[in-house]
Amino acid sequence: MSTLTSSPAWQALATHRDEMARIHMRDLFAKDPQRFAKMSHEASGVFVDYSKHRATAETMTLLFSLAKQAEVESWRDKMFAGAKLNGTEGRAVLHVALRNRANRPILVDGKDVMPEVNGVLAKMRDFTERLRNGTWKGHTGKTITDVVNIGIGGSDLGPVMVTEALRPYWKKDMRAHFVSNVDGTQMAETVKHLDPERTLFIVASKTFTTQETLTNAKSARAWLLGKPGFDDSAVAKHFVALSTNAKEVAAFGIDTKNMFEFWDWVGGRYSLWSAIGLSIACVIGMDAFEELLAGGFAMDEHFRTAKLAENIPVILAMLGIWYANFFGAETQAILPYDQYMHRFPAYFQQGDMESNGKRVDRSGNTITDYTTGPILWGEPGTNGQHAFYQLIHQGTRIIPCDFIAPIETHNPLGKHHEILLANFFAQPEALMRGKTEEEARKELEAQKLPPERVNELAPHKTFPGNRPTTSIMVQKITPKTLGSLIAMYEHKIFVQGIVWNIYSFDQWGVELGKQLASKILPELDTPGEVTSHDSSTNGLINRYKKLRKG
Ligand code: F6P
Repeated sequence: MSTLTSSPAWQALATHRDEMARIHMRDLFAKDPQRFAKMSHEASGVFVDYSKHRATAETMTLLFSLAKQAEVESWRDKMFAGAKLNGTEGRAVLHVALRNRANRPILVDGKDVMPEVNGVLAKMRDFTERLRNGTWKGHTGKTITDVVNIGIGGSDLGPVMVTEALRPYWKKDMRAHFVSNVDGTQMAETVKHLDPERTLFIVASKTFTTQETLTNAKSARAWLLGKPGFDDSAVAKHFVALSTNAKEVAAFGIDTKNMFEFWDWVGGRYSLWSAIGLSIACVIGMDAFEELLAGGFAMDEHFRTAKLAENIPVILAMLGIWYANFFGAETQAILPYDQYMHRFPAYFQQGDMESNGKRVDRSGNTITDYTTGPILWGEPGTNGQHAFYQLIHQGTRIIPCDFIAPIETHNPLGKHHEILLANFFAQPEALMRGKTEEEARKELEAQKLPPERVNELAPHKTFPGNRPTTSIMVQKITPKTLGSLIAMYEHKIFVQGIVWNIYSFDQWGVELGKQLASKILPELDTPGEVTSHDSSTNGLINRYKKLRKG
């Protein structure tokens, strides 16, 4: 048994779980009219209702004891103080420094990182202002209207998600595009409609060694330089780089004057707050980008100072642990009821799964008796209702769901928003209440069906309910509220990683596939059959080599 599962706090939860397994949320609501008031909190513009959970005050107390036992507060304080929590890479974890709007000094190796953070923000402001007011011109003297961010993973998903979520804030005549996939289709389809004279490529890569990104960047350069009147000197006006690696940026041919720096203490999947957010700032402007930072900072302040029982990221984290580790929930859904937020679940798929998809603890032991990071997934609300909600309502699995909605829409159109919100309110209610067999029978009898048909249909029309949901509301999706929402989930992931005793800020698991792909690439060009792999991999490669054209 691991130290974690044999610990008093864990054992107390395991015992309590058996009691809670017999309790239905419907009864908890019936017993306590104050349940909503007691189990909801608001911080930095984010209102969180966690009353529709299989949890009582005792459950929460036991969960907070587990958080205390794991020393969540002191780990949190260490993160904010710049300690090297990323043990396998020997790095600090300081995305919070990027949005430290109070400008409190944060030391890494004895040096305050804030002057450099502020320096890059100032450089981003200067650049985006010149781009947006037309002072920055392309090679042929025309203004830029389209920016193409070339990056992948953390160097893509954050900017994509935020630019999409904040579309109402885009400057007219300034558009953002994203190319991440090494599949040439994405690049080909993106540049097809672009005017090279008015296009800026932003090559975003923390390491500047990522194969997909460098391949795409080279193709973008070839596309640009293939246009009449363009030569190498055009690169300076049409390419900028976002990276920690000045040497590789220069080797690629981008002048380091056109490089926006960040640092190894910014994890890729936590980097949208850094220079990696340049594409965001290009379309929404630097003032709005700083509002995003302010929203993140407000949530940081809440997370840093609120006691555990009122600390929203801690509450969400511990409820996630409750279901994953004590009810066997394997997945967690994020369901935004806002079309602009359509990439939010995909963003946190990387955020959560790359952070907490770990099977070895911080002491190097293989974890055998508890699960770590959940499978995270989701889609915008009502589309999901007509696709996968069936399984959430009546399937055999338990899937905790986060429902997110704004009170105000950016697009008031007839009754659309009321209808959307009616669904946002109804789904968690239905998941909590369910429908008893008796209720199902009554409905069928009211339809005057023969008794044998009622017997036949009743089990299928019964919903067990008792399915956990969190309802999250903000006034409107603005740069500020979005910043707070993102930071809230980041800290949730952090807390869970601490309790599970894993390193949340490395990602060694993505390396093996990369290594094997680089071994296979030259084999595709070598004549003759490949025999160096297992029979399946050999067979697939050889089939491709035999059937490809050209
Ligand atoms: O997929 C692995 C990964 O290292 C991610 O963590 C990262 O966000 C992505 O690749 C891109 O890396 P880079 O920014 O160095 O190109």
